[in-house]
Amino acid sequence: MTSITAANMKTELLRPSAAGIGRAGALLAAGQVVAIPTETVYGLAANALDEQAVLRIFQAKGRPQDNPLIIHISRLEQLDALAAEVPPGVYQMAEHFWPGPLTMVVKKSAAVPGRTSAGLDTVGIRMPSHPVARAIIDAAGVPLAAPSANTSGKPSPTNARDVLDDMAGKIPAIVDGGPCSVGVESTVVDMTGPYPQILRPGAITEELIAAAMGGAATDSAVYRGLSDGEKARAPGMKYRHYAPKAPVTLFEGAPRDTFSAILAEMDRPGTGILCFEEYLPLFKARRSRLVYSLGMSWDHAEHARRLFALLRRFDHTQARRILAQCPRVCGANAGTVNRLRKAAGFQSVDCRKGRTVIGVTGRSGCGKSLLSQRLEARGALVLDADRIYARLLREDGPMLRMIDGRFPGVVREGVLDRPALAAVVFSDEQARQDLNRITHGQVKAFLEDALDRSGAALAVLDVPLLFESGIDRLCTLTLAVLADEESSLLRIMKRDGISRPQAEARLHSQPDDAFYRARADLVLENRGSLDLFQQSVDSWIEKYIQA
Ligand code: TXA
Ligand code: MG
Repeated sequence: MTSITAANMKTELLRPSAAGIGRAGALLAAGQVVAIPTETVYGLAANALDEQAVLRIFQAKGRPQDNPLIIHISRLEQLDALAAEVPPGVYQMAEHFWPGPLTMVVKKSAAVPGRTSAGLDTVGIRMPSHPVARAIIDAAGVPLAAPSANTSGKPSPTNARDVLDDMAGKIPAIVDGGPCSVGVESTVVDMTGPYPQILRPGAITEELIAAAMGGAATDSAVYRGLSDGEKARAPGMKYRHYAPKAPVTLFEGAPRDTFSAILAEMDRPGTGILCFEEYLPLFKARRSRLVYSLGMSWDHAEHARRLFALLRRFDHTQARRILAQCPRVCGANAGTVNRLRKAAGFQSVDCRKGRTVIGVTGRSGCGKSLLSQRLEARGALVLDADRIYARLLREDGPMLRMIDGRFPGVVREGVLDRPALAAVVFSDEQARQDLNRITHGQVKAFLEDALDRSGAALAVLDVPLLFESGIDRLCTLTLAVLADEESSLLRIMKRDGISRPQAEARLHSQPDDAFYRARADLVLENRGSLDLFQQSVDSWIEKYIQA
């Protein structure tokens, strides 16, 4: 084997300018290795068709030679030279998901060296969407083999600084394209069988692929890891991965339950914590310094963006173990959850106590009560936040006392003067926020108590302000129902006996579809006939309750 002493070369940090891209292209064309930004993670690139260049990638990463590399292209025409055969499904997938975070495994052509494919007769090919990655492929004039730009076994780098940490002195250049927008590696899909099979989950989910292709499946090793002696369908699956130096323990369940489980465990010195934004101040108040936030508990896109950089950051701390809150598992975040489970060696603490808690939300008149009723018919305990709120307003209890404390005079002899309170908060934003903090907190506390006391295995929280109130943190799954405005208006007018302008005013004061799409784990559309909606609700329940 040719010996290439890579250590201690000078590593240039290049800007993503025309000059930087030109320099990267020239180095790559000359058989050198350059770290490049992509939308998923940074890649360690070299000419995929040049065995010597590819060898340099394996050496810089310390990667086992039996783990194949992904080849990156910038134009669809490049596919034909790399693949021995291209099944029609590949073009269909490319149409939907390329350029983007998707790698397709196909039979390789003779042009692909065995070193690139690690001796397999298949090869993974991806067309990234990152404009700098595409410009560099064009400038190099050859397809680029590029694994993630980390030292083998470490979490993938999602910014140039993290690449430098692993690769300084080992490669001639890094192109700094800023932080990666996706944050976990591409979905790897085997296209050599009758239907697409996911070998590594990522931003292109099984649901998206199934919708585009009429069918898709995920290799079972993705969920449980490999058992002893089992052969990995994607060779990379068998390696310890994504792991910081300190061992990771993953806590799965509703955020409030994983929070209390970690609280009970965290006193040992050297404990690092990976938590949701909502809990950051609470952990910090416990004098824990090694605590980092993944983002708000509903923000799956942000979790993906932050995960690897945070896991890597623990390596620079005194953390001797890491306790992590696992995001709600919902399909759209299969990539993040898979990387966390891998980091934790597929061992997690189950905080669900055998209970599924589904938070159902959406604008007025969207049809979410139909969903709650259908779940109730399946034995679910349904708790309705509006009814609880109305009841707490009538009761001479803690909520009225808190309202009276903040707005003296609006409660007289245990009875709330609603017009007086409305007058106070009508034009005073701070007063309105204070009132919301009190009422949301009290409804949340009531629900927590009701959940803790009930033994129900399936509970539904019907909550219009699910995310605004923080009640989403009690849930193991959140679901938003979205409907078109006209049918919602008709439903509200009929149900509440109000005029069209009144119904319009109410709807327009509520968040738009984008708000729910960004936050809910799952969205059900109610845009056709009632029959159609009932069918989709029932088929979803069938699938979900069985799962
Ligand atoms: O997002 C990504 O895919 C990033 C960026 C840089 O594009 N690249 C990346 O490459 O994650 P790497 O080498 O770190 O991971 C490639 C994974 C490995 O698990 C490997 O085993 C699998 O894809 N793989 C590659 N070729 C394969 C093949 N022919 N059959 C099955 N699995 C394959
Ligand atoms: Mg990798």
